[in-house]
Amino acid sequence: MNSTKWVAKMKNILLIFQLFVLPSCIFSLDTITLNKPIKDGDVLTSSKKFFALGFFSPGNSSNRYVGIWYNKVQEQTIVWVANRNNPVTNTSGLLAVISHGGLVIYGNEKSTPLWSANVTVSSPNNSVIAKLLDTGNLVVVENNGKVLWQGFDYPSNTLLPFMKIGLDRRSGLNRFLTSWKSQDDPGIGNCSYRIEPSESPQLFLYKGQAPFWRSGSWTGERWSGVPVMTKNFIFNATFVNNEDEVSVMYSIVDESIFSKVVIDESGIVERSTWHDQVHQWVKFWSAPVEQCDFYGKCGPNSNCDPYIADEFECKCLPGFEPKLQHEWYLRDGSAGCVRRKGSSVCQNGEGFVKFERVKVPYSSTTRVNMSMSLKACQEECLRNCSCMAYANADERQGGNGCVHWHGDLMDTRTYSDTGQDLYLRVDAIVLAQYAKKSNGSFGKKRKLEVSLISGLVFLLLLSLACWLVMRKRKVRRSRDKFPFSVTTTPSYWEDSPARTDIDESRINSDLPFFELSTIAKATNNFAFNNKLGTGGFGSVYKGVLYNGNEIAVKRLAKNSGQGIGEFKNEVLLISKLQHRNLVRIIGCCVQDEEKILIYEYLPNGSLDFFIFDEAKRAFLDWTRRFEIICGIARGILYLHQDSRLKIIHRDLKASNVLLDSAMNPKISDFGMARIFGAEQIEANTNRVVGT
Ligand SMILES: *[C@@H]1O[C@H](CO)[C@@H](O)[C@H](O)[C@H]1NC(C)=O
Ligand SMILES: *[C@@H]1O[C@H](CO)[C@@H](O)[C@H](O)[C@H]1NC(C)=O
Ligand SMILES: *[C@@H]1O[C@H](CO)[C@@H](O)[C@H](O)[C@H]1NC(C)=O
Ligand SMILES: *[C@@H]1O[C@H](CO)[C@@H](O)[C@H](O)[C@H]1NC(C)=O
Repeated sequence: MNSTKWVAKMKNILLIFQLFVLPSCIFSLDTITLNKPIKDGDVLTSSKKFFALGFFSPGNSSNRYVGIWYNKVQEQTIVWVANRNNPVTNTSGLLAVISHGGLVIYGNEKSTPLWSANVTVSSPNNSVIAKLLDTGNLVVVENNGKVLWQGFDYPSNTLLPFMKIGLDRRSGLNRFLTSWKSQDDPGIGNCSYRIEPSESPQLFLYKGQAPFWRSGSWTGERWSGVPVMTKNFIFNATFVNNEDEVSVMYSIVDESIFSKVVIDESGIVERSTWHDQVHQWVKFWSAPVEQCDFYGKCGPNSNCDPYIADEFECKCLPGFEPKLQHEWYLRDGSAGCVRRKGSSVCQNGEGFVKFERVKVPYSSTTRVNMSMSLKACQEECLRNCSCMAYANADERQGGNGCVHWHGDLMDTRTYSDTGQDLYLRVDAIVLAQYAKKSNGSFGKKRKLEVSLISGLVFLLLLSLACWLVMRKRKVRRSRDKFPFSVTTTPSYWEDSPARTDIDESRINSDLPFFELSTIAKATNNFAFNNKLGTGGFGSVYKGVLYNGNEIAVKRLAKNSGQGIGEFKNEVLLISKLQHRNLVRIIGCCVQDEEKILIYEYLPNGSLDFFIFDEAKRAFLDWTRRFEIICGIARGILYLHQDSRLKIIHRDLKASNVLLDSAMNPKISDFGMARIFGAEQIEANTNRVVGT
């Protein structure tokens, strides 16, 4: 035996030894060729060992799938799956390149593949290999270097750096992420993350067919609804929108950073980065997380603002009103808003008000012109009555380009800092209101101004009240008859014979004062779960006192229209009134900026809750209704005639009638009530209140 033959033989033995004897971990090539399929147990690794490919079983499943995972991440993190809907049920699987150029997965049956990557070779003589790249992309390449197929064109639930999602307008190929069916099943699930290739393309998250979240349009360097993208140093985003394609791709600044975007089974999309020191994936961003992130939360023509403490997030856009007032009151904004009746925004003195720091809306018809200035954009929008709003299309360099929205405006929301300016079409009346308030802009600045103005008004009212009291005292001393005044809020002070010299301590002595800490404890720190509803002036919470008594806590919004004056009004009135058809006040709390009223808790809620509900209204038969009507009438009669005061409620409606456990009606919400002179049968008012 000569030496060359001997070497060749040794090589063969070594090869056989490698293939069949050594454990599969040393099988670390990055390519699959015609004669070298991947068996279950073999692992292919990319040249820099970033990614690995092989058969795996997800979660508790015993099914086998061909997948790609991070080679260096201890906890196996699958980023791509080939045979998502066609698992191999045992370990006989094989991933092979076949002679006419395809990449296939075989199970037990070696004649019909379970899965195949469809490729067309340029020439039947060309050979083909499959290769795992360091980006995590599995490619099928011809020997002339032409890529025939790539795994990145068929994403699973993970978006990797350098992977595009979006539509290839020439071939029609649409790349998007789809969730797994479950942790144990990588099959195509219900949720998807894709670019909607409209005039103003944006990313949408869908649950089934229903949009769940959207990114907002591309503003030059970020999505309108992903403010966090502005300050990141991990990746660069490339957005392309031309006749060839509409796509987005994230490239990583440093290839040793592992960053991924995953859509999970519940439809949440999350970007995370691998931190080697702590051995875990650290979340960088995810959506939807807040109420305002959910598409359609506030319906059409409204804005979702999560930064108004203690109030309903949904607010109709200027010039609009809730479509279903009652649902809106119950904090269901999904029906959205409609233009106020009689409002005209077509060639009738209309204009635009500025909305700051928002995710710009979505509408069925959007027009974009990248070469139009903001001024031309406004003029163009004004000319067309169906144009509802406009904004800069690109926010770089101080803003350029133009977007117009026609039709209902969906899914606008406010951010605390980063956000775009949106210009909304409003009628002449609203325009005048905004011009007066704040030079047409809308947002934090306005709130500040409003609170300044209301502060001034309050001071003014207070001095007026003091002046009146002083005058009254003088008048009384001189035994003159002081004429009843209808124009100032505290005028009832003069007209109650029992209350000629009311001072703070006397009001208070009639009514228990509660510590804020007691109320906070009783309501679980004003927990959202304790909230019973939101009224005109703040929110009402259910609470339980130390002694186990249930209470209803009316917490007046700090910036509510109800000033100290109205607050005292309500406290005063209601503590003096005793009637079985009026809600009973238990106490109050004035501390720091808080103004709180504590009432008896009425377990059956308000009358509107029954009569506007299809199912519940059946519960109120005519006998019961008649009793309720009589009860309300008795309460009103007492207020108008039988009490020592003469009180006009001024906001009597079903939601202000509460029901006790025996369905007895009790009138509530006296914040806006007014007292009239005992002899008085007619009065004028300068302030319009109520609903
Ligand atoms: C390849 O084509 C077949 C038949 O058209 C199709 O069922 C299969 O899903 C395709 N494979 C891939 C990976 O797209
Ligand atoms: C996905 O859709 C199927 C069929 O429509 C349904 O049974 C299932 O509950 C859905 N899963 C999720 C997570 O929504
Ligand atoms: C875009 O705006 C420019 C400047 O106003 C105008 O000349 C051009 O015709 C517009 N393009 C389209 C497609 O409307
Ligand atoms: C207004 O704009 C819409 C959407 O671009 C368009 O369909 C319609 O023809 C325009 N109307 C007028 C009067 O220009």
